[in-house]
Amino acid sequence: ENAPLTDPFSRAISYLRVSVTDRCDFRCVYCMAEHMQFLPKRDLLSLEELDRLCSSFIALGVRKLRVTGGEPLVRRDIMTFFRAMARHLDSGALSELTVTTNGSQLARFAADLAAVGVRRINVSLDTLDADKFARVTRWGRLAQVMEGIAAAKRAGLRVKINTVALKGFNEDELFRLTDWCAAEGHDLTFIEVMPMGEMEEAERLGQYWALTDLRARLAERHTLLDLTERSGGPARYVRILETGQKIGFITPLSHNFCESCNRVRVTCTGELYMCLGQEDRADLRAVLRASPEDAPLHDAIREAIARKPKGHDFDYSRAHVSGQMSRAMSHTGG
Ligand code: GTP
Ligand code: 5AD
Ligand code: SF4
Repeated sequence: ENAPLTDPFSRAISYLRVSVTDRCDFRCVYCMAEHMQFLPKRDLLSLEELDRLCSSFIALGVRKLRVTGGEPLVRRDIMTFFRAMARHLDSGALSELTVTTNGSQLARFAADLAAVGVRRINVSLDTLDADKFARVTRWGRLAQVMEGIAAAKRAGLRVKINTVALKGFNEDELFRLTDWCAAEGHDLTFIEVMPMGEMEEAERLGQYWALTDLRARLAERHTLLDLTERSGGPARYVRILETGQKIGFITPLSHNFCESCNRVRVTCTGELYMCLGQEDRADLRAVLRASPEDAPLHDAIREAIARKPKGHDFDYSRAHVSGQMSRAMSHTGG
């Protein structure tokens, strides 16, 4: 029972990302189709089922829990779930409870999140231009997100901004984004766009902006120091010598980081995905609903992790996309 979860490649699994809803109030072009068919409510795990499931992972050694979506803060009563998970922070079983959000509801939730023990949050933000923001999210209001981020800062939450690097879209805002984050005291991580969801191959290749190029452009203006520390997460970091600012790069395409993977994901329907870029999964909802006992659930989790694959097959090389997943990122929560 107490042996920590370990996969076939000796990677310890200590980080669970759980999606609490497939819904979102935005439709980012690289994430969702404009007209999404969302799941019926009966398919979703209830808040009680989410609690049982996450508590089982924590009993099996998960130390960090990230709540994702869709947009997690649009799930009805979501603070009830955060409060339930906070008991594991209080007992010391969980060392970090956090959330990845689009920021639209943060003005309402920031103080509550801080109150239950959330310390850091990740907010997705691809542009600081209101018109471009409305285009990339299809209708989002930048001002609303900025108010949310400000509320998070006031509540004492550390904010990490996640920016998906998009060719021809936010290339021209590289310094504006880095300077704004430096001025506000936010961490910043750039992400290479991954081939998930339905999209034409040409469009896919058109939007891919390799972070090796982004980094080279940063280096034209700044002295970049490579930081070797790896938080166990996918990001590699540099420090800008002139300002001390730390910038992260998530580069699944140009530099694969699967060898140090420490995480698995649960969808809002209770499917356990062992890898973001593979289809293999285990139906934990069926196990949850078949028995009120924890033992079958623990067995199912261990069994699934025992077949975690080595890594994803994403590849944009040779002017062609491979490893493409038709499942949208919102399905597994990024
Ligand atoms: P921290 O390191 O705790 O800040 O968070 P994180 O980077 O794990 O979480 P976040 O939700 O900010 O993730 C940012 C994005 O990184 C995700 O939405 C994915 O796009 C990408 N990402 C996270 N984990 C993985 C992974 O295991 N594989 C791949 N290919 N991409 C990942
Ligand atoms: N490629 C890379 N990142 C993506 N995200 C959503 N879809 C993709 C994709 N196809 C990011 C969001 C958010 C995080 C949860 O995932 O911008 O920061
Ligand atoms: Fe919503 Fe995030 Fe997907 Fe954008 S990337 S549509 S904010 S879930």
